[in-house]
Amino acid sequence: MNILDGKKTSEKILERIKKRVSAPLAGEVSRSDAGGAEIPHLVVILVGDNPASKVYVRNKQKAAEKVGIKSTVIEFDSNIKEQILLDKIIELNNDNTVTGILVQLPLPEQIDKNKVILTISPKKDVDGFHPENVGRLAIGMEPYFYPATPQGILMLLDEYNITLEGKHAVVIGRSNIVGKPMAQMLLKRNATVTICHSHTPNLDEIIKTADIVVSAVGKKIVRCKMVKKNSVVIDVGIFKDTNGKLTGDVDFDIVSPTCGFITPVPGGVGPMTIASLMYNASKVYR
Ligand code: GUN
Repeated sequence: MNILDGKKTSEKILERIKKRVSAPLAGEVSRSDAGGAEIPHLVVILVGDNPASKVYVRNKQKAAEKVGIKSTVIEFDSNIKEQILLDKIIELNNDNTVTGILVQLPLPEQIDKNKVILTISPKKDVDGFHPENVGRLAIGMEPYFYPATPQGILMLLDEYNITLEGKHAVVIGRSNIVGKPMAQMLLKRNATVTICHSHTPNLDEIIKTADIVVSAVGKKIVRCKMVKKNSVVIDVGIFKDTNGKLTGDVDFDIVSPTCGFITPVPGGVGPMTIASLMYNASKVYR
């Protein structure tokens, strides 16, 4: 069994992004063509004071700083009116010095998340959540941005030269943020994809047929002995166990003896997601 080291790999990728940010953009719009955006500028909007969201936003800000991407955090009270937030997004869409917009989720209940996602310009939607980006991915057109977590997972697999063509990939979880785009992106790489979720019977039997397992559930769900020999196990889950220790969806001790590669938690998918988001934030569209 080999560890897929997300921490080390993310540092390598952030180094590459840093070079890319300080050099002219090849194959894309030049910075001067971007209508005033000399360097990428990511605006992160944080509504309310969810402690986990604050940590995520801080980490995104730190990563942006590290690679030379300008970042601004705009904070709103948890009780703001939806229209105030939508108006701010429209203002940022029209601001040529802003190249990326990210609204941290979850949002307070008076705000319709879907309206927010629809309002962000697809060309500044660094999360890749806008229906235009989702739809482009679904019909095989290049989206402006791929969602950060699945893109980060593919970057990690690529760094370890793990090929996907013809492999059976089992994705556990069907969220818009991870499960669904992950399945689409694996299909695009010519994997055979099975999507499982909390209502899937005989999950263990399906997992045992997988060459690649990606679990994004947030519960200890991958705990079957004897996964396929040399299979690749990607653990997207991160939560605290009953002792307050960070853990993931995969029971590492049970699964790791037979698999070929596995991501640790922490230090696997998490840092790759940040690096992947910074890759997105380094892109500038007109
Ligand atoms: N909250 C948890 N994950 C994410 C993410 O990937 N993007 C945003 N905007 N909010 C999140």
